[in-house]
Amino acid sequence: MADTPKGMRKGLTRYGDEGFSLYLRKAFIKAMGYTDEALERPIIGVVNTFSGYNACHRTVPDLVAAIERGVMLAGGLPVQFPTISLHESFAHPTSMFLRNLMSMDVEEMIRAQPMDAVVLVGGCDKTVPALLMGAASADVPAITVVTGPMSTGSHRGERLGACTDCRRLWGKHRAGEIDAEEIDAITDQLVPSAGTCCVMGTASTMALVTEAMGMMLPGGAAIPATLADRMRHAERSGTRAVELAREGLRPSQVINPASLGNALTVLQAVGGSTNGLVHLAAVAGRLGIPLDLEAFDAIGRETPVLVDLKPSGEHYMEDLYKAGGLAPILREIRDLLDLSCITVTGRTLGEDLDRAPPPFEQHVVRPRNRPLRPHGGMAILRGNLVPGGAVIKHAAATEALLVHTGRAVVFDSMEDLTNRVDDPDLDVTAEDVLVLRNAGPRGAPGMPESGYIPIPRKLAAAGVKDMVRISDARMSGTAFGTIVLHACPESAAGGPLALVRTGDRIRLDVPQRTLELLVSEDELAARRAAWQPPPRPPGAHRGYLKLFLDHVEQADRGCDFDFLRDGDRPR
Ligand code: FES
Repeated sequence: MADTPKGMRKGLTRYGDEGFSLYLRKAFIKAMGYTDEALERPIIGVVNTFSGYNACHRTVPDLVAAIERGVMLAGGLPVQFPTISLHESFAHPTSMFLRNLMSMDVEEMIRAQPMDAVVLVGGCDKTVPALLMGAASADVPAITVVTGPMSTGSHRGERLGACTDCRRLWGKHRAGEIDAEEIDAITDQLVPSAGTCCVMGTASTMALVTEAMGMMLPGGAAIPATLADRMRHAERSGTRAVELAREGLRPSQVINPASLGNALTVLQAVGGSTNGLVHLAAVAGRLGIPLDLEAFDAIGRETPVLVDLKPSGEHYMEDLYKAGGLAPILREIRDLLDLSCITVTGRTLGEDLDRAPPPFEQHVVRPRNRPLRPHGGMAILRGNLVPGGAVIKHAAATEALLVHTGRAVVFDSMEDLTNRVDDPDLDVTAEDVLVLRNAGPRGAPGMPESGYIPIPRKLAAAGVKDMVRISDARMSGTAFGTIVLHACPESAAGGPLALVRTGDRIRLDVPQRTLELLVSEDELAARRAAWQPPPRPPGAHRGYLKLFLDHVEQADRGCDFDFLRDGDRPR
């Protein structure tokens, strides 16, 4: 590695004359005001994902400043650069459609520009996965800094947090319990500060599993966005990035089957978002590591849910921070983890855990002998309806519905759902199973978070809080209910979900991990022979939409593009 170019000499632009390339590069970078001495330092790229559309990233400029300070303190030269920034509510048709694009942007900008290490600054649901995917493919030494969770708000004396309470209160509005004026007033309080959603949604999940996987300094996942501690963590990460540049510790040395196993174990123990599974599959895929869904299910059978956070529990991320963050969780499941995994500290996970602040009494992370739930938050289902698997977050489901047989009420698309779900004449009862199809990676496209199928208004008004719901879509980690997601293969790809008809019977058995369409094989074969794929959406003949539709993989492979797996480009 001694002759590998460093700093400004890395990845020279090709003019056919390397001396000229370096000379020209120096001339242009000097226009930024740097001295020769500064340019001789290790260069630390800092991914700046600030966007005026992204409140979850509102503090990124402060974080970048703190990271730059840390880099300078350690003798490096920080150079920030922008990438795509994605916010959940500002990405049409859905942020998942754009995650792979952001990951490609991150990978190519890390590859194209000279940097000896990179600090990945993200937070909102898709940004951390995209950063990790891109960094894993580029395989330059990397460390993650998340923006951190937002504070909780308050409405008429009630503590509120995005976005579990967003959905709960909207449900009350739909049921007629909250009028239009009050629901409008609530928008002042649901997102009261900068930072990411403050429940165990996808952002919190990805922050915790990233720390568990070793791609973040210990203690970084749960620090609230607005605290000084968050800035100190960023500064320390900048300092550590310079050391990483010197040591050459790359993501491919940190992310491996064992550290991914730790991430999956933590995903179960925290009652994390189902989206975490998709994103981890995508990150693993970038390094050629297949994610074994059965292994994940097996982890769930022996890993208890310990973290008492909404939507499965009571507390919010700022409470988890005060309870010690990830460390008390890791301590409780220490025997289930591979403690020999190397983290970005350069130490093992076990050594990092031994150095964590000592435990103290708290009420957010339960002890192993008094878990929130004895088994993990998620289960993998198989059966003739989902031969490629599906996931259910049973920690957030209604116990009585975990074994249930009901009549299917099918919605052909999200548009069909919108048009009919609240129709007073819709033939539906609380015992029925709501099915939404054509909402998967290709079908929607982008596998939107539409799996949280609303309870039909007339049933909601009658007090029905939960029903069995099945789709090939995803669901926000902040949502709750007896909801089967990621049906694989999706219906737009000819999966069995495409064959279900209203009136068919469906049997869900979570303890047995099965989901069956109770229709004869002969009848299903006849339906399959008559099935026609849905037409491609308008605009699918060109651009990113075409790329997406031609190459997106199914949920079990992380919805990544087939050509992005296995980082096989020379590094
Ligand atoms: Fe950004 Fe929830 S919208 S984390």
